[in-house]
Amino acid sequence: MVKSTKHLLLNDEQCDKMRAAGRFNAELLDHIRPQIQAGITTAEIDLLVHAYTTDHGHIPAPLNYRGFPKSCCTSVNEVICHGIPDQHTLENGDIVNVDITSIVDGWFGDQSETFLIGNVSDEARQVTQCAFDCLYAAIDILTPGCSITEIGEAIVEVARPYNFGIVREYVGHGLGKSFHQEPSIPHYPDSRFNRMPLDPGLCFTIEPMINVGRFQGIIDPLDNWTVRTIDSKLSAQFEHTILMTEEGPELLTITENGPRPGHKF
Ligand code: MF3
Ligand code: CO
Ligand code: CO
Repeated sequence: MVKSTKHLLLNDEQCDKMRAAGRFNAELLDHIRPQIQAGITTAEIDLLVHAYTTDHGHIPAPLNYRGFPKSCCTSVNEVICHGIPDQHTLENGDIVNVDITSIVDGWFGDQSETFLIGNVSDEARQVTQCAFDCLYAAIDILTPGCSITEIGEAIVEVARPYNFGIVREYVGHGLGKSFHQEPSIPHYPDSRFNRMPLDPGLCFTIEPMINVGRFQGIIDPLDNWTVRTIDSKLSAQFEHTILMTEEGPELLTITENGPRPGHKF
């Protein structure tokens, strides 16, 4: 049965609120971008995020979200997602996903990018490229009223030739006045998930996590947040907040200086 999305659809005024939240979040990512280099600690990145957000009168959504202790997620190398900023210094050869979510006037913007630190291995470059291409392949197939399952189908086509794992445990999500809401947006075709249509007015994220090796992850029992690949191989991710409109998908979190569709890492 196809579920109704009626209760999730935003009116014009609410769409503008989401546009403003996405725009601020993207500005924030551009603000920290030049600093994401060898020698910075992930805790310093977190401080930059916190300062810029609060200086502009907004709220970093991760801080205290279900007990999360910092203002952004920094997921280095084999960390799939939900890495907690700490004293780890980024080094030449690392890859790091920085995932930023802001609350602007009660509405959420959510996005992430994986950054290459200096000269990285071929494998690191490939998994980053694959995750980026998966996000845009998924965006490319979006049409008003299309089925959520088409997203996973597009992603698996991109990842298959690489033989990379597509994370299943963590999914994209509806976004609005709360961080994670209906619908779930799986990045893998799975008939257990609902086939809700992506109707105009629906706002959601797509955020594929791609692993060099197996798709499974393990949560660090010491912090109950950090998710690492089960085989300690590299993982990369990109995320945008997307509003479906009558004309098609509108990306709400486009940065000035970030990688564009077709970018080669
Ligand atoms: N930003 C993540 C997402 O894309 C969620 C992070 S939850 C946190 O959904 F608590 F770890 F911040
Ligand atoms: Co998200
Ligand atoms: Co996010």
